[in-house]
Amino acid sequence: MKIFLDTASVSELKEGVALGVVDGVTTNPSLIAKEKRPFRPLVEEICAIVPGDVSLEVVATDFEGMVKEGEELHHIAPNVVVKCPLTKDGLKAVKHLTGKGIRVNQTLCFSATQALLSAKAGAYYISPFLGRLDDIAHVGMDLVRDICEIYRVQGFTTQVLAASIRNPLHVVDAAKAGAHVVTMPFAVLEQLMKHPLTDLGLKKFLDDWAKLGEKI
Ligand code: G3P
Repeated sequence: MKIFLDTASVSELKEGVALGVVDGVTTNPSLIAKEKRPFRPLVEEICAIVPGDVSLEVVATDFEGMVKEGEELHHIAPNVVVKCPLTKDGLKAVKHLTGKGIRVNQTLCFSATQALLSAKAGAYYISPFLGRLDDIAHVGMDLVRDICEIYRVQGFTTQVLAASIRNPLHVVDAAKAGAHVVTMPFAVLEQLMKHPLTDLGLKKFLDDWAKLGEKI
């Protein structure tokens, strides 16, 4: 399973890539807006920092606009994956862009039927938003499990990118469900590596070593 960071923060991305466990990044218009920087230089910098796929989202809502913006985003760097929302026009845009060899991450997926159509349209990634389903008292992980099963049984090659991840349990359950990618905020990535017993154990080792008075 690949780990992506869900951020447009250059400092978070540099730190994540330096850790050696970050395979790519997803952005969206809200995350870009948080950075308060001109769009083009920001995303060019992100594409240069991150070795893997960088999802950049269109903001047009009509088919022609999504295709035009998608083609422009695609030309920013070879690792760009165009993000299109899961609407009627978004599905048409996926089919069109995919036909031109442009990889698309279809975003804002909240149902198995949407995911089925997206795979038929040829999406490279499907992004079910599980945290936002949890927010409205639906079990977001059930959707991730359903999509993974449908794609496996039907032989679709679209990769399941579990998004709207809010905590480490989401990451564990998405991995168990067979998601190909999990994209998470930097804070969740930090939570994944922390354990109080690791900290306590290390303190005890170092205290005992200090009492010995030796050197390596
Ligand atoms: O990748 C999608 C993600 O950015 C949405 O997350 O926490 O805003 O629901 P959230």
